[in-house]
Amino acid sequence: MLEITGLTARYGGVAAVVDLDLRVAEGEMVAVLGHNGAGKTTLLRCAVGMHEQFVGEVRLSGRSILPGQVARNVQLGIGFVPQGHNVFPGLSVEQNLRLAGLRAAVRDLGPVYDLFPELAGRRRQAAHTLSGGQQQMLALGMAMVNRPRLLLLDEPSTGLAPALVQRVLEAVAAINARMGTTVVIVEQNVRAALRVARRVVVLRSGRLVHDGPASEAHEGERLWQWF
Ligand SMILES: Nc1ncnc2c1ncn2[C@@H]1O[C@H](COP(=O)(O)OP(=O)(O)O)[C@@H](O)[C@H]1O
Ligand SMILES: [Mg+2]
Repeated sequence: MLEITGLTARYGGVAAVVDLDLRVAEGEMVAVLGHNGAGKTTLLRCAVGMHEQFVGEVRLSGRSILPGQVARNVQLGIGFVPQGHNVFPGLSVEQNLRLAGLRAAVRDLGPVYDLFPELAGRRRQAAHTLSGGQQQMLALGMAMVNRPRLLLLDEPSTGLAPALVQRVLEAVAAINARMGTTVVIVEQNVRAALRVARRVVVLRSGRLVHDGPASEAHEGERLWQWF
């Protein structure tokens, strides 16, 4: 459903993603790993059209993702959660979710609260009073309000305590399993990512240097030779 062909993306003269091919099938959950500066964020930005210009092609179920046209691309069915805090701190949980669903006039928040019971009991609580993990779940919930077919996540577990890392990644896995949402998740936390994703790709200096089942990556030291 996501088809990336010959993608090259630059910042001025610096190529951040180089001639990258990646195909993600409907319903897959793919972890994107790699060192800092490997091009992971740039890859996600291209997939949603947030990077103003790129060479190559990005398609979602056959329709071209147009660079620079985020609002239009998102309507093709993409949810994007950038790195960091993506909630409105002064608004309540419910207000954050309602705001996220405004454009598509989403009324029923039930499915989101079903996914995140932690949020259901805190509907009136201001977002800034939530723990880091709960805020990240709210950000995920805000993306899921619009029922995207493709969910792009940039390091959702960064900065969280270990127990919450697992909880957030399990929530992502639940979205994938229960809603059938295709997920591309960038992660620094390699071990946690391998526990939830079935397929893993590794970027190095903007190039895709490995693509295979997550189960293989668990085998001893093999993972590290890809970096
Ligand atoms: N806004 C920017 N301006 C200039 N260079 C950038 C910018 N953002 C990222 N880069 C460069 O692009 C490369 C890839 O960055 P990025 O996609 O953020 O990698 P990752 O997410 O894997 O850490 C790096 O060399 C980085 O320095
Ligand atoms: Mg990044």
